[in-house]
This record gives sequence, structure tokens and C-alpha cells, in this order.
Amino acid sequence: MKFFLDTADLQQIEDVKRLGMLDGVTTNPTHVSKTGANPSELYPKICKMVDGPVSLETVGLDADTIVDEGRTLAKIADNVVVKVPIMKEGLVAVKRLTAEGIRTNVTVTFSASQALLAAKAGASYISPFVGRLDNVSTEGMELARQIRQIYDNYGFETELLVAAARHPIHVVESALIGADVITLSYDILMMLYDHPLTDAGIETFLKDWEKVPK
Ligand code: E4P
Repeated sequence: MKFFLDTADLQQIEDVKRLGMLDGVTTNPTHVSKTGANPSELYPKICKMVDGPVSLETVGLDADTIVDEGRTLAKIADNVVVKVPIMKEGLVAVKRLTAEGIRTNVTVTFSASQALLAAKAGASYISPFVGRLDNVSTEGMELARQIRQIYDNYGFETELLVAAARHPIHVVESALIGADVITLSYDILMMLYDHPLTDAGIETFLKDWEKVPK
């Protein structure tokens, strides 16, 4: 399962790259607004740092505008994936961008029927927002499971990219159902390393090592 970092923060991207865990990046308008940077300067920097797909999101609401935005974004670098919110006009745009050889990530997805439409439109990735479903008392990972089954039933090549993950269990469950990708905040990725028994075990080994004659 690939790990994408869900951020537009260059320092976070650099850190995770150093750790050897960076398979790609997903940005969104919220992440970009938090950096305070101009996207036309920020996006090329991110794309250059990442050896893998970088999702850059469109904000247009009609297919022509989304296609224009997508073409412009795709020109930034070869690793750009155009992130398009799921809606009728968005899927019209996805079909057209796909026909032009531009990769797409269909985002803000909350139902299996939406995911089916995205695959039929030729999306490269589908992003179900599992944590946001959990927030409204609906099991988000059940949606991811349904999408996995539907895509496998029909051999769709659209990759399942679990998004809006909130904790390490989302990561483990995603791996168990065979998600292709999970996108993670920096904080959740760091949590994956932690275990109190590991800390205690290392501490004991180091203390015992001090007693060894050297
Ligand atoms: C996905 O690509 C989105 O950027 C992201 O996962 C949204 O998650 P949030 O609910 O943490 O904002």
C-alpha cells in the first residue's frame, strides 16, 4: 500500500521523504491556504520534491472550467494528478482529461455509487473521505470496503485511495482490505512508528548494555 502525504507543507514533505515513506502527495485548497503561499510558486516546488504522484485540486464548477484548470495544472510537471471533486460536471471533466492522457483523482467521495461513476469516467484514483463519514456516525471504512469489492468485481483500474484518515487503525484496515493508497497527515504517519512497548524495550536494552564490560 502506497503512503501519500496529505499536505502542502514543504517541510513535512521533506521530513517524510527523508524517512523513506513518501510515495506521493495530496494537496487540497485548505492545505494550500494554510501555507500562505501562492499556488503558482508552491505547486512546482512540491512536484519537484516528490518522486511520485502529486494531486493538485481544481476549484471550477463547470466541466469546461475544470478541464482548463486541469490542463494548466498538468503542465506544471509530469507527476501532477488533477484532483476533481465528485459532481456531474466534475465527472464530465474527468472523462475529457482522461481522454487527453491526464491522470485524475476524484475527491470528496462519500458513497459507493459515486465511486462507481468515477471509475466509469476513467478516474485514476478515487478518494473516499472515511474520517468525515465517521464524524457523522457512519462507518467510513465500510465505504472503502464496498469500493474495493465493486472495483474488483469489474476489474476497474481506478486506484482506491483512502482519504481523511484519522488514526492508525484506518491505516491497518486500509491495508487489510487491499487499498492501493492511503493519504495521511504528517501526525498520523508519525503515530504509526509509536508503541509504548517498543520504547520500554529499547530503554531496557540500553540500560543493560551499559552493564556489559567494554
Ligand atoms: C484527500 O485527498 C483530502 O485532502 C483529505 O484527506 C481531506 O481530509 P480532512 O477531512 O482531514 O480534511
